[in-house]
Amino acid sequence: MLKKILGKAVTTLAGRDDFAIPEHDSPLFADVDWDRLPRHVAVIMDGNGRWAKGQGMLRTAGHSAGVKTLKNILKTAIGLQLDALTVYAFSTENWKRPEAEVNFLMNLFSEYLKKELQEMHEDNVQIHFIGRLEGLPAALQKQMREAEELMKDNTGVKFNIAANYGGQDELIRAMQNIAVEVQNGKLSPEDIDEALLEDNLDTAGNLPVDLMIRTSGDMRLSNFLLWQAAYAEFYFTDVPWPEFSPECFVDAMKAFSHRDRRFGGLDNK
Ligand code: FPP
Repeated sequence: MLKKILGKAVTTLAGRDDFAIPEHDSPLFADVDWDRLPRHVAVIMDGNGRWAKGQGMLRTAGHSAGVKTLKNILKTAIGLQLDALTVYAFSTENWKRPEAEVNFLMNLFSEYLKKELQEMHEDNVQIHFIGRLEGLPAALQKQMREAEELMKDNTGVKFNIAANYGGQDELIRAMQNIAVEVQNGKLSPEDIDEALLEDNLDTAGNLPVDLMIRTSGDMRLSNFLLWQAAYAEFYFTDVPWPEFSPECFVDAMKAFSHRDRRFGGLDNK
């Protein structure tokens, strides 16, 4: 019983409805080292199902709670003036889940776009979807394209949502595009370098990932942003995604600020 009450209290804090973009001088950002923030943060939003089960609810209730968390983390990322936030919403492997859960998630993405699109646009967000989008329901694909079109001239945080995404699949698609160009004589094999490959990834135009966050205790990459995370710092927390609050996100920023990034070189302090 106590766990249930505490669980609800934490959820209210993490997924609160009235959370506004924090100002630069917000108490939330006290002790943030503004000169040592990551520019591109990626998040594996894990633990929705386990969290819901722990509360005696259906797994799908965890995904609904996860939407609220996502909304508040995006607002925090805007307040921190991050360049990009990329989140893992549905992997190429998630089709293995029960049909009812897959359908619930597709519907949730659709509802999320309907409900949040205008506010994100007003917040100057540039939304972008990454993954094999043609594998998603046609109506959802249409909503995604319309959302991207609406926000294409915005200049704020790049918000990338990975749906039907797999890092290996993305690399294969990029290589296939390049192979076609070589076959057509537009490129020669010697033209293939890091920059060309990056231009053919779904994340083209984004900076490399500086910080990769995974919630809910597991410590693996699960086929997310394999290329882009080559030099990312990793931050793992036991907190399940529905309870991952703006304060938790800021804690990850602070941890990042203390990392010594050498990119294969020697200490650059
Ligand atoms: C992983 O938790 C989460 C997912 C597979 C879905 C993520 C979706 C959301 C957070 C909903 C919001 C997203 C958008 C774009 C509206 P899990 O189900 O694997 O949890 P478990 O590891 O406890 O089973």
